This record gives sequence, C-alpha cells and structure tokens, in this order.
Amino acid sequence: MAESRRAGPDRRRFLAGASAMLLAPPARANVPLPNDRRASPPMDNRAGYIGWMVKNRAEDPAFLGARYDRFRLMLERKDLWDKSAMRAYLMTPREEFVLPSSRDQAYVGHYLDIGFGVTITGPNTVCRMTNSLDIAMGEKVLEIGTGSGYQSAVLANLTDKVWSIEIIAALASRTRKLYDGLIARGYGEYRAIVTKSADGYYGWAENAPFDKMIVTCGIDHIPPPLLKQLKAGGIMVIPVGPPGAQHVLKVVKQQNADGSITVSRRDLYNGGIVNFVPFTKIEGGGIRGTHNGVPN
Ligand SMILES: C[S@@+](CC[C@H](N)C(=O)[O-])C[C@H]1O[C@@H](n2cnc3c(N)ncnc32)[C@H](O)[C@@H]1O
Repeated sequence: MAESRRAGPDRRRFLAGASAMLLAPPARANVPLPNDRRASPPMDNRAGYIGWMVKNRAEDPAFLGARYDRFRLMLERKDLWDKSAMRAYLMTPREEFVLPSSRDQAYVGHYLDIGFGVTITGPNTVCRMTNSLDIAMGEKVLEIGTGSGYQSAVLANLTDKVWSIEIIAALASRTRKLYDGLIARGYGEYRAIVTKSADGYYGWAENAPFDKMIVTCGIDHIPPPLLKQLKAGGIMVIPVGPPGAQHVLKVVKQQNADGSITVSRRDLYNGGIVNFVPFTKIEGGGIRGTHNGVPN
C-alpha cells in the first residue's frame, strides 16, 4: 500500500465521512514558533512551562497545566529520565490526538478509546517505551500501530525520520489527516512522519534497516521480519505475551565478532503486566485474527 505524508484526493473524499467529523478539530491558532528543535520550554516549574508554551506554541493553558502535572508524576514514577524525552513529551499536544469527547481526560494516566475498537496508549507507557529507545536525532524509527498518532508525534520530537504503519485503513487515513492539519498550523516536526496502512508484522522493507522500533500492539512472539529489519545494535520495544498479559520488553539486537546475532530482552516493568490491543493480521482482504502462534 502507498505511503503518505499529506492528504491526497482519496483520503480527502474519505475524510468527508463520519469518522473524520468525529475528530474535526475546533479552529485553533497557528503555532507562533514553528518547529525549532533547539528551543525548549522550562521544565523545572509549572508557571514557566505554561508561559513559554502559550507564547511559543499558542496552546491552551488548561491543557498545558494538565500536561505538566502528568509530567511531574511520570518523573516520580521513572517513566521519563532523559532531557530529550522529557522535552518530546512536553512539546506534544496529546489533547489533539484523543477523541473530542475525551479531550478533558487527555492527561489521565491510562489508555482511552479512540474508536475502531482500539485505544490511545496511556502517557506513562508511551513515555517509558519512548525513553527506553534512547533515540538520537537522525535515527530511523519504525512504529507498528499508528492508532491516534500520538506516539509518532512524540517520536517526531526526537528524530526527523519516523515511519508508522496502521492496519485499520480508515484509522490510518483519519490520523494522516490529523497530522496534515497540525503541520498546516505550524507543527512542522510532524513532517518527519511517513505513514501507511498495512499489516505491520512484515515491517517496511523498502525503508529498512531501522535503528529503533516501537510496537504498540500485543503479540506472543517477536515478529521475525521486524527483527530482521532492525539494525545490529538496534533497539525494539514491544509488548510480548498471551492476550491480556503482555510484558513490555526492550529487545536489543547485537552482532557478535563472529557475525552471529544475539538478542537480549529486558522487561521494562520488572514483571508487571501491561495490556495492549492485539497485533491483528490481514487475511483474505480483511483484518482477521491475530499473529499469535507460530512465527510466520
Ligand atoms: C494501542 S493502539 C494505538 C497506539 C498508538 N501508538 C497511539 O499512540 O495511539 C495499537 C494500534 O495497533 C494497530 N495494529 C494492530 N495490529 C496491527 C498490525 N498488524 N499492523 C499495524 N497496526 C496494527 C491497531 O489497529 C491500533 O491502532
């Protein structure tokens, strides 16, 4: 399926439909300070953060306050530890990525429904997974499970090369339109995100290898095609386990001196279970079942 960076005629036609209306954002101000990756808000005090963001990003002080309060909680819980990941979280307007009906809950700690039977992952999990990837500017990152678009929006503050795959075509179109609207308002960092609708189990071979990968749907094994497309020395974070009982693993692929590959795994929650929506698959032209079972 074709990749996309901006709205084309087909997507525009689709977006005239009901699901687009659901997410149609209220008219919002353009961003006064567009996409300056060197600029950073103060992180050590709430008022300073809100003031800087209102001046430079024209965002709503009520959402900024809630974003900052969640930030402090995540620091305490060790969901965030690097300055670059802290900045990425603080610069990303989560309220733009949730359904309008749950905008007032944008900064609660857990996942929220985004339609199509799937969810936007909670900010705590997004941040712990993102920070664990240790992303440097210029690194190539692949996300499986675009969903609301929030995760890739955070990633786009860390690198200028993000690819994201979503299996539900209508959701992929809706999120693409959302990115395009935000880019038009001055969130130029989202130009980094290339999207497509496909079954992410097979990765994105044309753009491989990737430095980092993040999988946001749960599966009982590490997909071999993804591991193959990860660079030696690369990191993948992925929820692995049976339905309803996944462990979020940090997987590091290492190449040994003799050319052999070693894969190490560490549980980001030290044995704690985090539930994710299933890693589904396309079969016979539709989404049917999951990829759980023997790796294929
Ligand atoms: C937890 S949700 C969305 C999380 C998302 N990163 C966000 O920030 O909103 C996981 C997403 O993975 C998608 N998904 C499930 N199986 C997939 C597959 N085989 N390929 C690509 N996306 C898949 C789901 O449709 C869903 O949108």
